[in-house]
Amino acid sequence: MPDIQIMPSILAADFGHLAAGCKRAEESGADQIHVDVMDGVFVPNISFGPDVVKMSAANVSIPQNVHLMVKRPQDHLQAFIDAGSDTVQIHIEADCPIVETLAAIRKAGKRPAITINPETPAESIFHCLEERLVDEVLVMSVHPGFGGQSYIAEVESKVAQIRRMADWVDIAIDGGIDDKTVRRAAAVGCNLFVAGSYLYKQEDMAAAISDLRKQAKESYCSAI
Ligand code: DX5
Ligand code: ZN
Repeated sequence: MPDIQIMPSILAADFGHLAAGCKRAEESGADQIHVDVMDGVFVPNISFGPDVVKMSAANVSIPQNVHLMVKRPQDHLQAFIDAGSDTVQIHIEADCPIVETLAAIRKAGKRPAITINPETPAESIFHCLEERLVDEVLVMSVHPGFGGQSYIAEVESKVAQIRRMADWVDIAIDGGIDDKTVRRAAAVGCNLFVAGSYLYKQEDMAAAISDLRKQAKESYCSAI
């Protein structure tokens, strides 16, 4: 079984106390910090830039999992690498030379990841798997742009398809993950779980993270 990891999204943290939100995730046993970067063009919302990754990296020692919801990630890659990103997730739907950009992430010593929107078919990223251009696939289970949306269960067949094709790749799922949906996503082969609003609304985030991890371990690949 690959590593099962929980990645709180600081998009759901209190923006008045972002450093505290990062530390709270780490102290609660999070495996990585998920940073949602939005440019207002690729998605309708605007969120963080590289300085927020820098702040997070300065405040915690767990890795920075950086989700670039931007139209031209290639234009900002160096800034996010310099800021301390460990995994860089670019979208297959971006206006971007995908193969070259993933190679540039790898060349910089970081983990390249490809992200796929709910409506995009799995086939669109097969070349990234066949040529092992990525260490991680991020499957969106909501339309990117906002936290707090409902989980789209239709993406599960796509996750299963990717898992059957590549047992070596980390499959992350992002959007609407909570104590119910985590089981479903794990059952079809996800092993990394982004959770924003569910985790940050908890009184005891540590207990919630342990519970998500336990449930994911129990149901991992049970439906495929
Ligand atoms: C959505 C972001 C997600 C979001 C998840 O565009 O990519 O990472 O923060 O938030 P929840 O867990 O609240 O759906
Ligand atoms: Zn995200």
